[in-house]
Amino acid sequence: MMYKIIVNLKTDPYPIFIGRGVSEKLPRFLADKDIGNYAVVITQRKIVSLHKGRIGCLLKGIPYRIVYVPQGETAKSQEWAFRIIETLLSENKGVLKKRIFLVCLGGGVVGDVGGFIASIYKRGIPFIQVPTTLLAQVDASIGGKTAINVRQAKNMVGTFYQPQAVFIDPEFITTLPKRELRQGFAEVIKYAAIKDKDLFTFLDKNSSEIQKLVPRYLEKIITRCAQIKAEIVSCDEKEKKGLRTILNFGHTIGHALEAALCYRRDFHHGEGVALGMICAAGISVKLGLCSQSVAEKLADLIKKYSLPVTARFDTQKVLASLTYDKKFVRGSIRMVLLTFVGKTRVCSRINLADIKKSLLKIKQ
Ligand SMILES: NC(=O)c1ccc[n+]([C@@H]2O[C@H](COP(=O)([O-])OP(=O)(O)OC[C@H]3O[C@@H](n4cnc5c(N)ncnc54)[C@H](O)[C@@H]3O)[C@@H](O)[C@H]2O)c1
Ligand SMILES: [Zn+2]
Repeated sequence: MMYKIIVNLKTDPYPIFIGRGVSEKLPRFLADKDIGNYAVVITQRKIVSLHKGRIGCLLKGIPYRIVYVPQGETAKSQEWAFRIIETLLSENKGVLKKRIFLVCLGGGVVGDVGGFIASIYKRGIPFIQVPTTLLAQVDASIGGKTAINVRQAKNMVGTFYQPQAVFIDPEFITTLPKRELRQGFAEVIKYAAIKDKDLFTFLDKNSSEIQKLVPRYLEKIITRCAQIKAEIVSCDEKEKKGLRTILNFGHTIGHALEAALCYRRDFHHGEGVALGMICAAGISVKLGLCSQSVAEKLADLIKKYSLPVTARFDTQKVLASLTYDKKFVRGSIRMVLLTFVGKTRVCSRINLADIKKSLLKIKQ
């Protein structure tokens, strides 16, 4: 089964293809759309060694070269971005005129740095996203945000630049370490909580099949999440109307926890988002926006996907990093809260005392 979703932008709408083996359709797409005649594939050695066969099909009949970036955030740097740009320049030296396009084959790191390079090299060349982590398949590869990090902060330098297409093949996910899968599940639960009660119930009822990566279950949840993100992005491409804000559910406190716990190797973005969602739901109950049972259902679902509902942290450190947040103005902050499962309200004046109470509830 192949699903097709259109990211319906005013200029240059683009398709997202989802399904097992869908990456094999890339050569045909490239030929039909006349995207270019030479692919530079940005990826990581680990991905190529795990998926040799699949990558062979992905690039069948296309002249290409592979550029490897290191694992982790190091790749999202000025050094790596310009190293790759040097490679692109060196490809242009021959007699034959190459019309280069990029293929970002990897997780959010590869997609972010690759998309950024595509957007600035010669003021923009086409690129294709082939996300290989669950997080990238449901989130990072869709929406056109590209970024690299600078010494001071993550994602500080970047652009809005949309790919020509996104090819989501859930088969890539089968080799993902459990910890990386959890990162993706945190975002999947987020989509359900903010936008889709049926997805929430589906995640709850079928948690074992989904976590065993049974293909048709996996395809269903990825497709639904991609659809939700595509719809939101289509309405608010450049994040100017505030509609993308709801995608930040769980992220305000989540980011602060991540920052405060950066020394812990087992604490990543997904863990932060899970705990951030629990705090946001707790604050929603406290403000009378939603019932206790909504908050409990959310916590139960988070537990089912092996994400944390409590953690050890220094409350003052978390609060300190929250007050650095640009959304924090005069003692209060804007947060996405829940009214029901699948429904949100953006509240602009959440005070620090309520946040502190919610943190104390998740503290071990
Ligand atoms: N642009 C956006 O809208 C957006 C949204 C969310 C996150 N992000 C960014 O995405 C990044 C995180 O992305 P991520 O969680 O995908 O991390 P990642 O790209 O670092 O990938 C996680 C790990 O999984 C490995 N990996 C990738 N595919 C694999 C596979 N199929 N099998 C086995 N291992 C595989 C990678 O080599 C890496 O070690 C962050 O930098 C974040 O800022 C961007
Ligand atoms: Zn996130």
